[in-house]
Amino acid sequence: MFDGFDDAGFGTEYLRHKENVEKYLYQVVPSFEIGGQKQLGEAIRYSLEAGGKRIRPVLALATCDLLGGDTDLAMPFAAAIELIHTYSLIHDDMPCMDDDDYRRGKPTCHRVYGEDMALLAGDSALNLAFEIMLEESLKYVDDAGIASRGLTAQGVHCSVLKAMEYIARASGCRGMAGGQAIDLSGTITNIDELKNLHSHKTGSLISAAVVSAAILCECEGDEFLALERYSDLIGLAFQVKDDILDKSGDFGKMGKEPGRDERKEKLTFVSLLGLDGAEGFLSELVGMAVESIAVFGGGAVFLESMARYIASRSA
Ligand code: IPE
Ligand code: IPE
Ligand code: MG
Ligand code: MG
Ligand code: MG
Repeated sequence: MFDGFDDAGFGTEYLRHKENVEKYLYQVVPSFEIGGQKQLGEAIRYSLEAGGKRIRPVLALATCDLLGGDTDLAMPFAAAIELIHTYSLIHDDMPCMDDDDYRRGKPTCHRVYGEDMALLAGDSALNLAFEIMLEESLKYVDDAGIASRGLTAQGVHCSVLKAMEYIARASGCRGMAGGQAIDLSGTITNIDELKNLHSHKTGSLISAAVVSAAILCECEGDEFLALERYSDLIGLAFQVKDDILDKSGDFGKMGKEPGRDERKEKLTFVSLLGLDGAEGFLSELVGMAVESIAVFGGGAVFLESMARYIASRSA
């Protein structure tokens, strides 16, 4: 996963967060006994457990660590973001959207379970995300729950709700889904419109991973603004790299077929700027992202490496 990327200690730390969130995620989907419902659970688990880099929850947990926050509080939110991301992939691959056959190295959910079940699997993964965030939030409705964690009532009530609202907005019509709609419409003609599309389609949810963790940690002022700017920059960078990989990536590493954007005549950073131009823009974004978190001194090393990893990844 990290071939050619050797920032000291980054891989180990990344895998630690990834394993923790996967342990949590894999017990979220219920098992059912009855026919269709049993298959629905299997379809959700199929896509969720197929793999994936888990970059969004890793970002959330790393932000929580940076701010000295409570991992147990951040975990359901980190996992919820991965569930929302997984739902978006299930739907994104369906014939009415990108019509793709492979995802995370396996046949897409609708290829295995049918379009009807894939639609429901996506819907249910989205719902599960809110179920686990709400379950966590309900722990703070009474003072005993709050005191047991050594937290202040006012702060926790507000921060869990604010974090959930941020995630809801980022994934809906004002964020990710809105960006996907712009993408489908094929109305993009220039670079500013493309930046706006990418920032919504992919940037919003990546950004929400960092910002929701910052909200949960009650981070404010310059540090909050720095994390917001960092998350916007890496969110955009992530989709620029996705466009580059679609042009020049390897099926074996990515687990999804390259060349789909060109075949669908999508306007991407590569089609607009060429491969070198897109790479140049990507390094610019990464440089700005690293600079944006200078306020943490040497403390944000992992997030700095994450920005570089996003640009160097091959999967
Ligand atoms: C793919 O996201 C879809 C985009 C938003 C570009 P990822 O590259 O994070 O996919 P997984 O989760 O690792 O499969
Ligand atoms: C990501 O864009 C869309 C989502 C928000 C799911 P793409 O359509 O480019 O993602 P891939 O390339 O299929 O992973
Ligand atoms: Mg798409
Ligand atoms: Mg797609
Ligand atoms: Mg793509």
